[in-house]
Amino acid sequence: MSTAFRTHTCGELRASHDGERVTLAGWVHRRRDHGHLAFFDLRDRHGITQVITNAEDAADAHAAAEPARNEWVVQVEGVVRARPEGTSNKELPTGGIEVAVDRFSVLNPSKVPPFYINEEQAGLDEALRLKHRYLDLRRPLMQQRMLLRARLASAIRQALEDDGFVEIETPLLIRSTPEGARDFVVPSRVQPGHFYALPQSPQQLKQILMVAGYDRYYQLAHCMRDEDTRKDRGPEFTQVDLEMSFVGEDDVMASVEGMVTRVSREVLPNRPILHEPFPRLTYAEAMDRYGSDKPDIRFGLELVDLTDVVRAVDFRVFTEPIAAGGAVRGICAPGCADYSRKQLDELTDLARRHGAKGLVQLSVTADGSFHGPAAKFLEGREADLLVATGASAGDLVLIVADADSIAGAEALGHLRLAMGDALGLRRPGVLAYVWVHRFPMFTWEAEGQRWDATHNPFSAPVPEDVPLMESDPGKVRAQQYDLALNGWECGGGSVRIHQRPLLEQAFALMGHSLEGMRDQFGALLDALEYGAPPHGGIAIGLDRWAALFAEVDNIREVMAFPKTQSGTDLMMDAPSPIAPEQLEELHLRIVEGD
Ligand code: AMO
Ligand code: AMP
Repeated sequence: MSTAFRTHTCGELRASHDGERVTLAGWVHRRRDHGHLAFFDLRDRHGITQVITNAEDAADAHAAAEPARNEWVVQVEGVVRARPEGTSNKELPTGGIEVAVDRFSVLNPSKVPPFYINEEQAGLDEALRLKHRYLDLRRPLMQQRMLLRARLASAIRQALEDDGFVEIETPLLIRSTPEGARDFVVPSRVQPGHFYALPQSPQQLKQILMVAGYDRYYQLAHCMRDEDTRKDRGPEFTQVDLEMSFVGEDDVMASVEGMVTRVSREVLPNRPILHEPFPRLTYAEAMDRYGSDKPDIRFGLELVDLTDVVRAVDFRVFTEPIAAGGAVRGICAPGCADYSRKQLDELTDLARRHGAKGLVQLSVTADGSFHGPAAKFLEGREADLLVATGASAGDLVLIVADADSIAGAEALGHLRLAMGDALGLRRPGVLAYVWVHRFPMFTWEAEGQRWDATHNPFSAPVPEDVPLMESDPGKVRAQQYDLALNGWECGGGSVRIHQRPLLEQAFALMGHSLEGMRDQFGALLDALEYGAPPHGGIAIGLDRWAALFAEVDNIREVMAFPKTQSGTDLMMDAPSPIAPEQLEELHLRIVEGD
């Protein structure tokens, strides 16, 4: 990669270059001074090369190098030589050589950075990193992450294009396409009082592209959602968005699975995929076994339904939820019978934080009896409980009862993950992809006293469930599928409703007429009336996927310029007030107060 400033990059030179005259340019990564000898590690994103100035052999170069400090940008010229016996550095690909410098120029000095670039500092403040993101991104660790993300994106494009997908860009200034979050809006200057919305996803546009005949569209799409930020969620993120025509659920899942498998192998050849093909769990099964619709299947500790086992016991904590139509579920934490009071209280707190009313804890003693506050209520049921939970002496059984069966399962699902962490079962390195599908199509909104779409209002019902739309909407399953990876929701999509009568029926259930929905989905509804093909698609969160690949637990670590928890860009200082003239032009007035 020779340019006007260099003959080679800082990662390029090897023993085979011995004796060649070269020019390198880069940042001073580290400097070691030995008086008449100065060693510099010169860094660019391709690597690090050791260069040496020697006062005796090249006095001018040595003097010119004298002021150069860490992070200065310099250019050196000299001759490559094999390092003397015993001094080569096995850690560096360039470690077998060094450059004896006879010309040294400073291209640009640097202020002293607010944190180290050349070594990892524990507990480095995130705000400081984000404020000086150009320095943070210069750190070799961050460069590895950015390059990993770039390799991931490139592999995705390659795999999709080989599978016949075409990339089509969709606009950022659009009309609202609701995905369940608040819109970011942009005021129009030319149309006073009118606003664009930034896309929460290209959902409507990609469906419209299917109507337009662009089977197999894809795009790495920027999406904006004004919602609370979490480790796996930012106000701005990227989706690998795709949509296909003339497909059923299996077609989309097969295409995506092929792409995901190929990409994983190419980008992370050393990390095994746990199950191929990816297991498919129905939503109901995922909730029953893992208490999660994005299960981490790298380990067992599965939930067990104990409702029948404890139905007859005289213990209000169980009988009341059961009578109300709920369930009692448990998990077995092997070898945890000796957990301390404090550890047990922490588990109870965790369960409560995730919505459980409480937590029954039973330590299994050496003779197979139970120890714990609720043990006396379960006398006589020990043997059955041990069989059901698979527990034996030395184990800890954790039980949650809830009138709301799903809520109880979810709370226990969080305990399962915590125990998985505590017991070191969430094996790093392994990629455990799993499909979860057949989600309930409608959720009952107690507040509005109506059914609402669980996913998006265009998701199609499972064909055999269509009759249930009249008789029992809560039981209708959607042709919707999520892809989970190691306990994170990595992607989600569905086969869509493409015919007007079914759409009208679904909207009516949610308390809307087709006309009423025109306000929100006008363009798509119109398009669907002009020969829409059967179609379906998915979107995978690129940031989440990259974070899981980079083995970090926060998507900000794999985004070049992420916003903070509170949605601020600390480097550019956004959002920021705008000039009064700009407000004037946009026909806006700020209301102070509140
Ligand atoms: P959904 O809303 O499930 O579906 O989003 C798809 C995937 O995008 C990622 N994701 C996010 N990543 C980071 N920050 C966020 N705020 C965020 N929100 C979502 C997740 C998620 O699985 N239009 C539909 C897709 C379709 O039906 O084809 C959609 O957007 O990884
Ligand atoms: P209480 O009678 O409410 O003090 O509860 C007795 C024990 O049962 C306590 O250890 C609670 O944490 C536990 N408990 C209460 N409600 C539930 C529930 N819904 N599921 C599991 N355990 C519970």
